[in-house]
Amino acid sequence: MRAVGIALASIVSVLPANAGAQDIEAGHRIAAMWCAKCHAVEARQTGPALDVAPPFTTIARMKSTTAASLNVFLSTPHPPMPDFSLTRREIADVSAYILSLRPGPGKGT
Ligand code: HEC
Repeated sequence: MRAVGIALASIVSVLPANAGAQDIEAGHRIAAMWCAKCHAVEARQTGPALDVAPPFTTIARMKSTTAASLNVFLSTPHPPMPDFSLTRREIADVSAYILSLRPGPGKGT
């Protein structure tokens, strides 16, 4: 764990000062750019863009959704979803964005 922490710290240190470990705004942009074709990605969007793809608000509400589960899901090819080859950072950002759509207490956990 210690080694991971040091590695993360060195990655974060080369990023712009305003970039936190996870960036919800960046995640929102990624979602709008890459995911909105199939998913309803906005907090107040009514109805999914595509019937088979669950809206991000629905994904956020699912008990099984965690930062770890999103990380695994987005790191592995999952047809019919295209393999985006998102970077670890993009995955962290888009996961943070999805979790930010979760309502009420427990937000982001
Ligand atoms: C080409 C259409 C398409 C695009 C683009 C797409 N998805 Fe999906 N996504 C789907 C479909 C269809 C499912 C349902 C798959 C299933 O249930 O097996 C899904 C499921 C998911 C799930 C899992 C929900 C669950 O049940 O656990 C997540 C998380 C997800 N998508 C995130 C994303 C993110 C993040 C992006 C953008 C980087 C994205 N998707 C782009 C079609 C798409």
